[in-house]
Amino acid sequence: MTTAIVDDVVAEILALKKSLGATILAHYYQEGEIQEIADITGDSLKLAREATKVSSPVIVFCGVHFMAETAKMLNPSKVVLLPDLEAGCSLSDSCPADKLDRYQQMLRENGRKFQTVTYINSSAAVKALSDWIVTSGNAEEIVRRVPADCEILFVPDQHLGRYLSEVTGREMILWNGSCMVHEIFSIDDLKKQKKQFPAAKTIAHPECPQNILQYADFIGGTEAMIKYVSGFAEPTDFLVATEANMMWQLESKAPRHRYHGVPGVTCACNKCPHMARNTLEKLRDCMKNVSPEVTWQPEFDKAREVLERSLLNPMPVAVAHPPGD
Ligand code: 13P
Ligand code: SF4
Repeated sequence: MTTAIVDDVVAEILALKKSLGATILAHYYQEGEIQEIADITGDSLKLAREATKVSSPVIVFCGVHFMAETAKMLNPSKVVLLPDLEAGCSLSDSCPADKLDRYQQMLRENGRKFQTVTYINSSAAVKALSDWIVTSGNAEEIVRRVPADCEILFVPDQHLGRYLSEVTGREMILWNGSCMVHEIFSIDDLKKQKKQFPAAKTIAHPECPQNILQYADFIGGTEAMIKYVSGFAEPTDFLVATEANMMWQLESKAPRHRYHGVPGVTCACNKCPHMARNTLEKLRDCMKNVSPEVTWQPEFDKAREVLERSLLNPMPVAVAHPPGD
């Protein structure tokens, strides 16, 4: 799109936002031009919490399907629009609810006492089968809430699970899922970049496999990355192992630094194809048509309870009756 066309589409979006009474929420992995016009940008945790505070009748969620579903579950009276209903997630796809249900039943039949801790990158049906929901922003705290006499079944991200197991010392049964973006960073290229920029700090998302995390100076979710780079007063080089649009956010929050994306093995762009389904035009069109909408599903009732307990409640002093018991 030419700059003039982009300007026209942005003007249409702003006018529709007003006439519809809409609040636009955007994840940090959306294109910069979408993040720029959003009312609120954030990681999964911040966006989920902000969704509960929206007072306008419509939420337009620029992110992927599980994020829009989460917003709907946490603020059910709102109309929640997603510019492209097909915007999925490889992690969410790796854990179908019926498969998880069968696996949990098998564990129970074998006398295993466990709680299911589920990454927010999952369907509502999977959330409904869970005891806890974690995001990259609250995962350690939640894992520490699981009673010591329970095993932890962690789904669907094996890499985040392995990392959490390491930092919390809790053994976990890991589901075999992974993020198609974070799984393919090239170790060889990262090593080359470290030689090229010897003073650089490497920051990596915990969805990356161990072979990348072992080289990281800082491991954290997207919100934590912003906080980390903001703490460096002097201009610094950062090697960034996460989705490429995060660079836009880092550059706008801490422009004094230089950011270098770690290339992927098979694709150097590091863009999430699911996130990329949302475009400025689709954002405009979904507001024009008030569609596609994320509507209430039967499994949302149970999933909502788990979400609220996990994301909105501060840590209790003691969990008197742990869920799942
Ligand atoms: P956070 O922004 O919550 O760290 O999540 C990263 C991600 O992969 C979202 O799909
Ligand atoms: Fe899913 Fe990975 Fe895309 Fe995030 S970046 S939406 S985890 S596929």
